[in-house]
Amino acid sequence: MVASSAPGKVYLFGEHAVVYGEPAVPCAIERRARVTVNERDDDALRVHAEDLTLDGFTVEYDGESETTPDVDVSQSLVEAAVGYIEGAVEQARDAADRPDAGFEITVESAIPLGAGLGSSAAVVVAGIDAATRELGVELTARDIADRAFRVEYEVQDGQASRADTFCSAVGGAVRVEGEDCRAIESVPNLPFVIGYDGGAGDTGELVAGVRALREEYDFAADTVETIGDIVRAGEAALADGDLAEIGRLMDFNHGLLSALGVSARSLDEMVWAARQSDALGAKLTGAGGGGCIVALDRTDGAETALKYTPGCETTFRAELDADGVRVEEP
Ligand code: PMV
Repeated sequence: MVASSAPGKVYLFGEHAVVYGEPAVPCAIERRARVTVNERDDDALRVHAEDLTLDGFTVEYDGESETTPDVDVSQSLVEAAVGYIEGAVEQARDAADRPDAGFEITVESAIPLGAGLGSSAAVVVAGIDAATRELGVELTARDIADRAFRVEYEVQDGQASRADTFCSAVGGAVRVEGEDCRAIESVPNLPFVIGYDGGAGDTGELVAGVRALREEYDFAADTVETIGDIVRAGEAALADGDLAEIGRLMDFNHGLLSALGVSARSLDEMVWAARQSDALGAKLTGAGGGGCIVALDRTDGAETALKYTPGCETTFRAELDADGVRVEEP
């Protein structure tokens, strides 16, 4: 039996623009998905999932039954979560050259589904690591990131950058520009506060919306390029350890994402609540449409303000996690 875990992430800068070749800076956070794998005697796959939302639920899935479980998130999200596990298993079978290997898999995650915190990437990364190790193969974090990207790309019908999967595999703050993925070596302590509206956005739809705007309006294409400029300025601010500047650039980044139509009332309300407290900056994270915002705040101000914001269901602190995928005690 092998258990591995991998972190979720926030986008400090650059979501959506990264799809068009601009750089992005996602950061791993100390909220993890944990996948435990046991090889079976036959070629079947059984997935047992717990806590796939903050509220928590249990899924029994045997890979064959037509009925999906009765849980408090939408069926499509559960199906997608199971699709990611199946993809991870395929990658492990391929890496170990064991096409008929069967598994008993348990997924536990403290990362809300579809909310911009990279839950699917974390599950796929941890799943590939645990399943390959269970078959006696050890992949590097980069290999895992690469295979996890292929799974996301397939499940999300080609609407995926390498940002989530690379960040979850290697941990810390990373820079992704097209195929070029690298760790950012020295970063200041980043005091993230997350606000979660309890909802989720449809990544495919949101990416398609930005693509259509970009094709229709030159100024939308310019907006995407400007987000790239913000990311480059953000990298310099990170190198200088200048949190105030990082916060200002996050605010700017959120404004441009809003202009591209991927924010939501709940996200804007949480961003404004955080900004009007002591936060240095705030923006939506991930695809948008609903889900999470990330604020930068050393004080308790943003967390307190978010607690009293009607659109905010949950708020929590999430420190930068220097660790990527790692083996856990089973
Ligand atoms: O919401 P998430 O965590 O799936 O992030 C989506 C980020 C996008 O840039 C919109 C798409 C991508 O794959 O990079």
